[in-house]
Amino acid sequence: MTVALIVAAGSGERLQADRPKALVELAGRPLVQWSIDALREVAGIERIVVAVPPGTSPLSGVTAVDGGAVRSDSVRRALAAAGGGDPVLVHDAARPLLTAELAERVIAALAHDRDADAAIAATPVTDTVKRVDNAGTVSETLERSELWAVQTPQVFRRAALERALDVSEEELARATDDAWLIERSGGKVIVVRASDENLKVTTPLDLQVAELVLAGRSSRARRQPPA
Ligand code: CTP
Ligand code: MG
Repeated sequence: MTVALIVAAGSGERLQADRPKALVELAGRPLVQWSIDALREVAGIERIVVAVPPGTSPLSGVTAVDGGAVRSDSVRRALAAAGGGDPVLVHDAARPLLTAELAERVIAALAHDRDADAAIAATPVTDTVKRVDNAGTVSETLERSELWAVQTPQVFRRAALERALDVSEEELARATDDAWLIERSGGKVIVVRASDENLKVTTPLDLQVAELVLAGRSSRARRQPPA
């Protein structure tokens, strides 16, 4: 059975709201609640653990733990509180537009590849990406057909994730995603094609876009009521 960890303990500096990002409202619900509600619908998830900013009021139906100083430390604390469960799904509260369908596809992809240590949601990059030095001069244009922008959810075999997180605080602080911790020790990570709608809320503009995506979803649902 899968255990799901949601990391929601960041301060949300770039969003510049009056509270931690995970508690900012999106269409009437705190950001973190959207991910909780999506993951509750996923077949095979037995428990949800959320790493929250210290002092957060209780969230119903999930286990809450205080987050750490950096993202991967929050993952480590949530995993420690998770009890049993394998594989482990890790998701950022900053991606509230997650669907149960995407989470199920990432879980299934890992289950179907016996050699893989992790499966991660990602989309092919549409912008041209260049390497630029400190002086602002372009040194290289990367081959776009090989580039994917990585999202969460990321699903891990539990032993691989535990091993990956068992590193120094310094290494942990360098990790912007947990899959990198697996790659650097030679583990196999596979991508699962996701939608651009699974966007990350970083700035106030992202929050506006998220509102529009939700409005689009509910008008589609009104036109096509579920059978
Ligand atoms: N996160 C966390 N613990 C931390 C830092 C980040 O649980 N110490 C979580 C955030 O809550 C978020 C996810 O990791 O869901 C991705 O981080 P990011 O988008 O950078 O969020 P913040 O760190 O909150 O935002 P900012 O960097 O703008 O302060
Ligand atoms: Mg951050």
